[in-house]
Amino acid sequence: MTIRTVPTRPILGQKPGTSGLRKRVSTFQESPYLENFVQAILDCLDGVEGQTLVVGGDGRFFNRRAIQTILKMAAANGVGRVLVGQDGLLSTPAASCVIRKYRAYGGIILSASHNPGGPEGDFGVKYNIGNGGPAPEKVTEAIFARTQTLGAYAILEAADLDLSRLGEQRLSGMVVEVIDPVADYVALMEELLDFEAIRRLFAGGFKMRFDAMHAITGPYASAILEGRLGAPAGTVVNGTPLPDFGGGHPDPNLHHCAALATLMNGPGAPDLGAASDGDGDRNLIHGKGLYVTPSDSLAVLAANAHLAPGYAKGLAGVARSMPTSRAVDRVAEKLGIACHETPTGWKFFGNLMDAGKVTLCGEESFGTGSAHVREKDGLWAVLLWLNILAVRGGDVAGLVRAHWQEFGRNYYTRHDYEGLDAGAAAALMDELRARLPELQGQKLGEETVATADDFSYTDPVDGSVSRGQGIRLLFASGARIVFRLSGTGTEGATLRVYVERYEKGRLEEDTQAFLAPLVRLAGEVAGIEARTGRRGPDVIT
Ligand code: G6P
Ligand code: ZN
Repeated sequence: MTIRTVPTRPILGQKPGTSGLRKRVSTFQESPYLENFVQAILDCLDGVEGQTLVVGGDGRFFNRRAIQTILKMAAANGVGRVLVGQDGLLSTPAASCVIRKYRAYGGIILSASHNPGGPEGDFGVKYNIGNGGPAPEKVTEAIFARTQTLGAYAILEAADLDLSRLGEQRLSGMVVEVIDPVADYVALMEELLDFEAIRRLFAGGFKMRFDAMHAITGPYASAILEGRLGAPAGTVVNGTPLPDFGGGHPDPNLHHCAALATLMNGPGAPDLGAASDGDGDRNLIHGKGLYVTPSDSLAVLAANAHLAPGYAKGLAGVARSMPTSRAVDRVAEKLGIACHETPTGWKFFGNLMDAGKVTLCGEESFGTGSAHVREKDGLWAVLLWLNILAVRGGDVAGLVRAHWQEFGRNYYTRHDYEGLDAGAAAALMDELRARLPELQGQKLGEETVATADDFSYTDPVDGSVSRGQGIRLLFASGARIVFRLSGTGTEGATLRVYVERYEKGRLEEDTQAFLAPLVRLAGEVAGIEARTGRRGPDVIT
């Protein structure tokens, strides 16, 4: 087996976004797009020679090919050992779990998360550091910088490995160990959660549906829910991962889980409806006739986590991304713990968890997690809900309503305008930003602007500053509107408008109707229709 050094040229635009480098499959397929990016990653890993890396992906189209290339490049670059999930599969939280458990140097995760897959879909490559979490900005910036100076990449000339076979194989000097992608993750869940109580819950007739959306959580959910916890066969639907996710869009929200929502709102709905995304880090929770927003889910989990063995000692603190509703803030206040507000992107939670400041965290974008790994974890969130219901009794809707009774309700919605002209979207944000000083104190319809700013975050652990993280209008009434451009899209720009109003008394209003005046106000302030030509959002969550 010989190492080939292949001359190459920098490729423009290999800049990792909110969560790694995401592009069309066709872009990644065109050599040396993948090779360049992987070489840039490897070049930035000081002292990786002889060390262990974890590699796996969500099974989407091009996963298998990409993994073979990455293994051969890792071998050529002197990596000592690679742990790879069987058939190249590892959910994102499971990859994080494996990196931590085996104290690996880091890991390369192949996924475009919830973006559609297949030859026409998206692909992505993300580097995670030794704590199991997404690389912080200084690392992704170094990787990007390296892509702009690269002159060659190294790859081993060798036959493809058989990744269906568990155990060790050799690739020149490097050991490739094919591991069971589910086992370590199941063991971790069993440590944290009261499997015995959940088993009793199912034995007592509790019914749930878990929609794996033909993505990576299928094998994990089947093994745990139906295998270990005794949920009836058929609890997990769409449980076989497919390279194109069955043509679906594996994003667990009301829009893409319409069938689940219909089931949960109809007669004969099961007790709990849940779903996870392409790579297994997101989750959707739906009770009988009641959809639980991710922001509310985080608040309910924070208020009840002590009912699970892994959190019985209480929470060190909680964190949420800025656009996430402030429901969890009220729980933190009651518990007497800190609530950290970070920019969008899971990577910002890593330092807080490493420093022991935060146990539970979450985002409005359907991510919930805890310090057990350094990624958000879809199935874990579902299991924690089950644990809480098993111990408390009652159902999802009852638990949420009791929560609102105690803490009040943060009505919340997000309106997305997708596929916008990038220039027009940037101009909209620039103009808003320029008007911030003038908006301060202004009366807009029924509302008065108390604070208007562009969110900036100083990491309390390493002091790093992230600016320009979203425009906030905080009103005197306590309501809030946030404008942000998505950092995860692959085509054009997506404008996200986040709208929130806290309410103590009227707890059973329809969210969209209740928030309609604020939504209208958001459209007017930003001139959305005039600037984008759109009369309404493409997706409402
Ligand atoms: C990914 C990240 C999340 C983030 C989400 C939305 O899933 O892991 O941390 O909240 O993308 O990002 P966006 O920039 O599209 O709003
Ligand atoms: Zn994901």
